[in-house]
Amino acid sequence: MATVRLDQKKRALVRSIPSSYTKALARFFGAGPTDVELARRQQQHYVDTLEANGVRVHRLDADENHPDCMFVEDQAVVVDGHMLLPVPGHPSRVAEQPPIAEFLMEALEGVQTCTMGGEARMDGGDVIRVGDLFFVGRSSRTNDLGIASLRSLLDFFGHELRIIDIPEHALHLTSISSTPTDTMILVPEGYLKPEDFGTLPKGCELVWIPGEEAYGCNTIGLPNGKVMIAEGYPSVKAALEERGLETIEIDMSEIRAADGSLTCCSIFY
Ligand code: GLY
Repeated sequence: MATVRLDQKKRALVRSIPSSYTKALARFFGAGPTDVELARRQQQHYVDTLEANGVRVHRLDADENHPDCMFVEDQAVVVDGHMLLPVPGHPSRVAEQPPIAEFLMEALEGVQTCTMGGEARMDGGDVIRVGDLFFVGRSSRTNDLGIASLRSLLDFFGHELRIIDIPEHALHLTSISSTPTDTMILVPEGYLKPEDFGTLPKGCELVWIPGEEAYGCNTIGLPNGKVMIAEGYPSVKAALEERGLETIEIDMSEIRAADGSLTCCSIFY
């Protein structure tokens, strides 16, 4: 999840992959998954890596009626122990939410929950956080009313929110960007521009990656300072290692096939 600081990444929620996963939505990076067993092995490696690096993982059962249900990031935006339950931007994904919401309401003691209504739409995958500054993608899944709901939650904490228009050839903001540390944003050339982010807080850096490695810009910074990256993105790996970060590569081929990235597969809470 892209909306917690590194020091808040103690627990993560994931969801098992249903046999119907071959019907998952795929329009951007992926041509559709074909090998569910391989996807499950890749997810297991992902979970094992989180656990080996200090994150306690809880796994929800798969929902056969929802091929995309493993992409839990889209279903809840957790900020400082509170959460927004968005109405996801694709109609086929709306009913994935109840078990995730129920689990988080139980797990987050004293949680205040905001919900969305009317025409508001948002996928959690459109939100990233760098320190206490938030960015939201206005995308095919997230509209202005959804952004207004997120702004209400962030106003409560005094956190700033900036809007970035996502190009048509990308799904979410997190599909092409991430914060491997609390002071670094990875971005692909040809998708976004420096002015999309505005003036960043002192010490915060935009790290530009060649556009052909856009998928690799989605990473997960771990609480011990290491960074999970997708296997096969040498510029991403080099950029992080040049900055003194240790990387851990994860084979994401069958998850990418459904337009899923590393952050899509978990919610830190
Ligand atoms: N396959 C993930 C999504 O399109 O939401």
